Amino acid sequence: MRYQLAPLYCRPWTLNGISARLIESHYENNYGAALNRLNAISEEIERLDLGSAPNPALVRLKRDEIVALNSTLLHELYFASLGGDGRVLPAALASAIAKDFGSVDRWRQEFAGIATGLAGGSGWVLLTYVPRDGRLINQIASEHNQSIAGGVPILALDMYEHAYHLEFGANAGAYIAAFMRNIDWSAVKQRYDDAIKVAPPRPLEQKEFADVPSISVEEVREMMKSGTPVQIIDTRPKHYTTKAQDIMDGAVWRDPERLDDWIGTLSKTEPVVTFCVYGFHIGCQTASALRKAGFDARYMAGGHYAWKAIKGPVKLFE
Ligand SMILES: [Fe+2]
Repeated sequence: MRYQLAPLYCRPWTLNGISARLIESHYENNYGAALNRLNAISEEIERLDLGSAPNPALVRLKRDEIVALNSTLLHELYFASLGGDGRVLPAALASAIAKDFGSVDRWRQEFAGIATGLAGGSGWVLLTYVPRDGRLINQIASEHNQSIAGGVPILALDMYEHAYHLEFGANAGAYIAAFMRNIDWSAVKQRYDDAIKVAPPRPLEQKEFADVPSISVEEVREMMKSGTPVQIIDTRPKHYTTKAQDIMDGAVWRDPERLDDWIGTLSKTEPVVTFCVYGFHIGCQTASALRKAGFDARYMAGGHYAWKAIKGPVKLFE
């Protein structure tokens, strides 16, 4: 793979308080250097003799590759973040930011505050969209290789000294203010529109139980906290429970293979929640059987271990 240099996205002569000289030096000496390093690393990886033996050089090169690749990606985003007047946010972006940060002002304070904290050191400040959560977050990337997994950065502020020292010296505050004055919000909005099209991670799919409703461990915890009547049945298989040490507090264990023996003890007027070890077959099967018998039954997604993972209370299993 050979990576190609991206043309400079912003027009340096239009920037307000950030000189063309600074941008040119940054583009040529830092972005250009990162791209050349990235290509050199790619070549070196291609030349490696990849036998079956562990190759420490490969691991080192792959680490260096992340740093160089992210440096090129983030520099391209940085240059593409500039060229606007920094003031007016497109309405849809302003409301997305207000939703996730309280207000646009609050976002500004946080973003510039992070940058101020990095001044004199190095790193990136990024505004990133996280598809899993459907939200925007400000993040630090202290090294080029730190960014939120699966996140899509849409605005980048370079706080490495090379980004401002030439013109601003140690006055990082003036550089941050100049950056904020030059944000191209309409370009950020376009990147935001692209980012929100990224699908979130695929949820667990259990096709055979698609018609059996589930309930999350958090919802079950809420029901118990609020005193909503609910019958919670632990249906971990008998062979499993012989070595199990704990059971969800508030649940009773019932042998899933002997449903007919205990179904008569359940009330039809209160909802039933069943679960097994991890939330796969047994809990779903039991919920399905109970539904067929006319109960308002659901299975608890993630089972016993999801309950423990949210630190739900457990008691000794006897
Ligand atoms: Fe840079």
